[in-house]
Amino acid sequence: MVYVTEKREYNDAYPDKTLYIPGPTEVREDVIDAMCEPMFGHRMDRMTDLYTTIVEDTKAFLGTDNDVIILTGSGTEFWEASTLNLVDENILVATCGSFSERHANVAERLGKNVDTLEYEWGQAVKPEDIREALETSDTHYDVVAVVKNESSTGVRNPIEEIGDVVADYPDTYFVVDAVSSLGGDYVDIDEHNIDVLFASSQKAFAMPPGLAICTVSEDAYERELEKNEASWYGGFQRCLDYYDRKGQTHSTPAIPIMLAYRKQMKYMLEEGHEARNQRHREMAEYTREWARDHFDMFPEEGYESQTVSCIENTQGIDVAATIEVVSEEYDMVFSNGYGSQLGEKTFRIGHMGEHDVESIKTLTDAIEDVADL
Ligand SMILES: Cc1ncc(COP(=O)(O)O)c(C=O)c1O
Repeated sequence: MVYVTEKREYNDAYPDKTLYIPGPTEVREDVIDAMCEPMFGHRMDRMTDLYTTIVEDTKAFLGTDNDVIILTGSGTEFWEASTLNLVDENILVATCGSFSERHANVAERLGKNVDTLEYEWGQAVKPEDIREALETSDTHYDVVAVVKNESSTGVRNPIEEIGDVVADYPDTYFVVDAVSSLGGDYVDIDEHNIDVLFASSQKAFAMPPGLAICTVSEDAYERELEKNEASWYGGFQRCLDYYDRKGQTHSTPAIPIMLAYRKQMKYMLEEGHEARNQRHREMAEYTREWARDHFDMFPEEGYESQTVSCIENTQGIDVAATIEVVSEEYDMVFSNGYGSQLGEKTFRIGHMGEHDVESIKTLTDAIEDVADL
């Protein structure tokens, strides 16, 4: 075995950095503090109070009648679980960047027959292509999977219209990866036939990482019951029935993160989903305008994300060096482009969670200073 990573020692003296990466993002101080409680048991009444509070508050925030699961793990868990719970044989995954490609890869690893509808990175998934694929293919797809916000390219896919298309195929379930936008980009889940939609706590919910949030339609729940095999850990039935019977989770959850979740979800309810959506829209509009003044936007026009701007490096700045100097001198961190393909060709600004236009402006001012724009 060749070890490529030398052992390093975590220490107690890292400077605080303000995060403008596509998650984790900034978490309010009192939400961090909420985690510092003496431990309690996951079968105590206190846990029932905590879990039922966060589940019901999340339903209220999202405005959905679908069931909600909050599971210890990250969003990745629901790529796996939704595939295991809903797909017997065939799944159609629309790919338009790294994360949607990974969704397809997860389904392949689970032994499913995966067809992909492939788009060039930066392009958005089109509802008419989904219709054509469903209409013309001889394959019956148990699931159509689409990423709402492709974090690698900053594309926001029109999942509402895609959901309306999939609604015409009642035996096909619609699964949406909303990991990097839920909470910062409003979607009417029930209106658009979204059977399963999932997200991670560390993105636009502005909570610490460690919890995955998933909404499940009644049809998707019933579908899992018909199947011989399903996920154990992320089984809709196991998670939801346990909640119905006991108001708790089937196994020991990350209790401190749920305490943070409870605190932050109260703030989110207070602000309201529409107002939160509006604040994110303003941040996205400001960032796009700034990007177009100095560079260009990478995504296809009209499909730019509301939570992550992917900016095309038309000036050929040294992206890695700029990130480093902004971090060293301004204690703010933004992201390079995704992977080797987009690493220096683009850079990304996460404008999600607790940020506002003013805080995004402090970052763009710093980038202007450092890159001499
Ligand atoms: C669109 C998208 N899907 C899935 C994931 C995986 O989420 P997690 O790292 O929380 O498992 C990410 C992570 O950044 C993402 O951006």
